[in-house]
Parts: sequence; structure tokens; C-alpha cells
Amino acid sequence: MALYPIRTYGDPVLRMTPKPVVEIDEKIRVIVSDMIETMYDAPGVGLAANQIGVAKQIAVFDAQDDLGPRVMINPEIVELSGEWEYEEGCLSVPGHAWTIVRPAFARVKALDLEGNEVEYSGDELLGRVLQHEIGHLNGKLLIDELPKRERKKALKDLRDEALGLASYE
Ligand code: NI
Repeated sequence: MALYPIRTYGDPVLRMTPKPVVEIDEKIRVIVSDMIETMYDAPGVGLAANQIGVAKQIAVFDAQDDLGPRVMINPEIVELSGEWEYEEGCLSVPGHAWTIVRPAFARVKALDLEGNEVEYSGDELLGRVLQHEIGHLNGKLLIDELPKRERKKALKDLRDEALGLASYE
């Protein structure tokens, strides 16, 4: 068991598309267990492997429902519907949250740790977590979901912060 440091905004690993997992072996099981530990320690409701610098299609999540911690390996969104506005944050963009509109409901196909095909589906928080983590596994970040004008402002804030120009209230 090990905690990983979480990569933050500006780290190029967050913008790459990790490779699918070919074989679910002991090494993968250790990574998943470490990812769950790192997610709870943060604390967060989801974590994608590239957020800890591991270039593999793996994400873990716990949407605070009775499912508990879950893993999705090589996940794929198969259905989206509705619309839901939610104040969304990301462990890789600490200290920020934006009101983001995404589909309310998501259905996802993935593999579990035994290599079985599993499906997760839900709306509101679970639907959002599924979409957010799969976004990471496509090299996307939550700010990419903002409308153009708000996205520009968010990028400027993050740039200013990186340069030490942020004004803290
Ligand atoms: Ni995130």
C-alpha cells in the first residue's frame, strides 16, 4: 500500500490519453489498491491513473453511495442523457470549483479487477464522477467543459496562480 502524490494542473501527464490495460495482473491490482488509498486520503470521490502519473486506462471512484469503492478498467461511456449543473472540483486543480453543466445520467462499460465486463450507471453525483474520471482518461480536465468565455477566465486564473499573481481574499 502506498500513497501517490497527485499530479496537478500544468503537468503534461494530465493531457495525455493513457493506454488500455492489456493484462490485469498483480501489478495492476497493486496500482488500483494504491489509487483507492490515495483517493480517500486526498480526500476525493474519484481518481484516474494519469493523475498519479500512471499512463493506463484505470480509474477508481466512490460516489458516496452504497456501491463503495469501485474500479473501472478501460472504461467507455455508452450512454449519456439529460443535463445537470453541479459545482465541480478536481484533485488535480486544487482550490478551485466551477459550476459545470454535463449530462445528468451516464452509463459506462468497463472491466473489473477480475477482467469481467461491468456496467456502472447513475445520475447526479455518480453520473458526474463517471464522466469526470473518463474525461481524465481522455486527457481532458473539467475546465474543458466550461463555455468559451468562462473557460478563458478559468485559464487566466490558473495561469495567474502559476505565476504567483493570484489575489487571495
Ligand atoms: Ni479530476
